[in-house]
Amino acid sequence: MDASELLGQDFEQLQVVREPSRGLLAVIAVHSTALGPAHGGIRRWRYPTTAAAAVDALALARAMTWKCALAGVPAGGGKAVIHDDPGLDRAFAYRRVGEFVEQMGGRFFTGPDVGTTDDDLREVARATRFVAAPGRNGPGDLGEATARGVFAALTALTLFLERELPGLRVAVQGLGAVGMKLCGLLAGAGARLLVADVAAERTATAAREFGAEVLAADAILAAECDVLAPCALGAVLDERAAPELRAGGVCGAANNVLADAATGLMLHRRGIPVVPDFVANAGALIQGATFHLQGRRPDPARIDRIGAVAGEILARARREDVPPGELALRMARERVAAAGDAIYLPPRR
Ligand code: NAI
Repeated sequence: MDASELLGQDFEQLQVVREPSRGLLAVIAVHSTALGPAHGGIRRWRYPTTAAAAVDALALARAMTWKCALAGVPAGGGKAVIHDDPGLDRAFAYRRVGEFVEQMGGRFFTGPDVGTTDDDLREVARATRFVAAPGRNGPGDLGEATARGVFAALTALTLFLERELPGLRVAVQGLGAVGMKLCGLLAGAGARLLVADVAAERTATAAREFGAEVLAADAILAAECDVLAPCALGAVLDERAAPELRAGGVCGAANNVLADAATGLMLHRRGIPVVPDFVANAGALIQGATFHLQGRRPDPARIDRIGAVAGEILARARREDVPPGELALRMARERVAAAGDAIYLPPRR
């Protein structure tokens, strides 16, 4: 999608923050607050142009809207991106973005995303209350919350496939904050793990702690297994990789795991159910939004409800003979449209 196409869509707010002398170009986007205040992390990434940064921020914000709608969280979609300029004064940039978030007064809550570390979040937290701060005063371990939600969705997929977790062969790509915790949950339930990561020490840990079989990073997608759990990068399943897949189903944390709708259709036609990533990986959103909106961490059972949502989508998608991702998007759009188009303005505090 190019800039003019994306800007023509129904977004509420777009803020460009620019201070060239500090190497700062940031974009804050709010897609929809029809269901509640916007939630979305801060991504630091190198963008070729300002328009590319705006397009990414808007597309990511919109994805957050759909994620909130399906997770049943009374919140909307937002996102901030910081251009990773070689001359970037990083601490300053995160603080500045925090100042803008603070000025939005609770219309947008932010947190981690690709390229943003705990130290970066501490800078943001110096400037605003509306951030998932690391440590004891924050919402807690978001990677753990995501892994719990993926595990719940993967359990629903297993039922859908008429299988059981004990003995299930699960191939996990990426053993980071989410993937490693997911391995722990799966091993605890008796699943057999196949794992891959570009970092050898992580695969060694999984082999030692969970008895996982280690595969080469370029072999995991085509591994013979019951479920493939992509927990590394986005867009790993494309029209080249999809025909090679030997998994019975797909459920992981990685955002935008399907490169495009055509790949989703191809897997659907091959009879390989794919739990939509924005359904499976909503655990961190539920954790963060509950903390921001209700001032407490959620009951873990709230995250486990992702399993019921995933199960419903898989069953409906089969009945309607559509790819689960396509159905999930339609359901999310309907929920947001039903809420009307009033924007959320926070009370002064
Ligand atoms: P992370 O950065 O902690 O871990 C990613 C892991 O993937 C690293 O161990 C890295 O070495 C590995 N990796 C990178 N390229 C690889 C390749 N080609 N083959 C195999 N392994 C590779 O990231 P995290 O937080 O675990 O997130 C995983 C995915 O889930 C990301 O796509 C992220 O956007 C998504 N996600 C994460 C959430 C969270 O709460 N952390 C929430 C929602 C989505």
